[in-house]
Amino acid sequence: MAKMKTTNLETELSLFKYDSLEQLPEEYRTLSEHERTERIERSLDQLDDDVVVLGHNYQRREIVEHADFVGDSYQLSVEAANADAEYVVFCGVTFMAESADIITDDDQTVILPSMEASCPMAGMAEALQVDSAWEKIESSAPDAEIIPITYMNSYADLKAFCAEQGGAVCTSSNAHRVFEWALEQGDKILFLPDKHLGENTAHRLGLEGSTAEWNPWNAEEQDGNAVAESDIILWDGYCQVHERFTVDHIESVRGDHPEAQVVVHPECRRQVVESADVVGSTATICETVADADPGETWAIGTEIHLVRHLQRWHPEVSVVPLCGDACMDCNAMRQTDPNYLTWVLEELVSGRERNVIEVPVQEKELAMLALDRMLEL
Ligand code: 13P
Ligand code: SF4
Repeated sequence: MAKMKTTNLETELSLFKYDSLEQLPEEYRTLSEHERTERIERSLDQLDDDVVVLGHNYQRREIVEHADFVGDSYQLSVEAANADAEYVVFCGVTFMAESADIITDDDQTVILPSMEASCPMAGMAEALQVDSAWEKIESSAPDAEIIPITYMNSYADLKAFCAEQGGAVCTSSNAHRVFEWALEQGDKILFLPDKHLGENTAHRLGLEGSTAEWNPWNAEEQDGNAVAESDIILWDGYCQVHERFTVDHIESVRGDHPEAQVVVHPECRRQVVESADVVGSTATICETVADADPGETWAIGTEIHLVRHLQRWHPEVSVVPLCGDACMDCNAMRQTDPNYLTWVLEELVSGRERNVIEVPVQEKELAMLALDRMLEL
């Protein structure tokens, strides 16, 4: 596949990516749940078809209760693409709102209630950092064609970078198909940013003996020979919520509940994924519990808000968190406080747009190309 020339992507290393960090006005900080529920519902009535609220499965109860659609990151981008509303209020994290902006029409506006909702794992592979590592990685295997593949959990500028270098995007449910496609286009894959999803996918394809890790924070010490000899190069990023789960947790839950089955997200470590009964995206986790027979026990290895939702949504199933009280919430998802939702909706009613996510045009076109390559598979 012909590669495009690397352009200067409009990007800077930063914690929150978007510098328009607006603080919540004082008057919104102390609303009671009753008051804010009334105000959110009133705004939604007034905005009517002009707004659609999307909520990721990891959002708090007080957010998902107001969402028109609740789902995994892939399902929400499909809902965003199908939405006719002028405003898409995306209750999730920055990379998800960016994907919505890439996919929606130019006359639609995507709003992220809190700009502080930035996924730490997406921040572990900034486009500038990958761009500088790319040369070193390529020079370790000068005769090989390396195809960069990035997980959906990455910023738009990295998706654009992958498109420019002949690569694509994948989600947790289609990573194996995208890997197969990439190995038809070239000789090796550089997978970003989640080393666990990359390793789990390599394992699924029988390539577990042919992976090398690339630690971008210690670039000088990286083993070029390992890169030259491997099919899959794994960028050293991870999700701290999912990396926490261990095989001991699975053994302990099976000890306490011998009848329990275990479902985990593929961002978990390989040994955890191998020991589980079912592995899949947050949508797969929801379907697994929805399809369970009454009385079955399911231990869930993912973010704690989703576990709590499943306990409420399916009281007939016994749903337990895989690592008990040690299960974490995602501190990026947690930033979307319902007070922020109240504020951005009331501002829209007053004709003001707050916390708009707008991917620069050049980045948008390239990132769309990387998404299209995935969607065509
Ligand atoms: P899903 O795509 O499975 O919803 O996962 C998103 C995510 O952030 C997992 O940590
Ligand atoms: Fe990012 Fe992990 Fe939070 Fe998902 S759970 S948004 S990967 S930090």
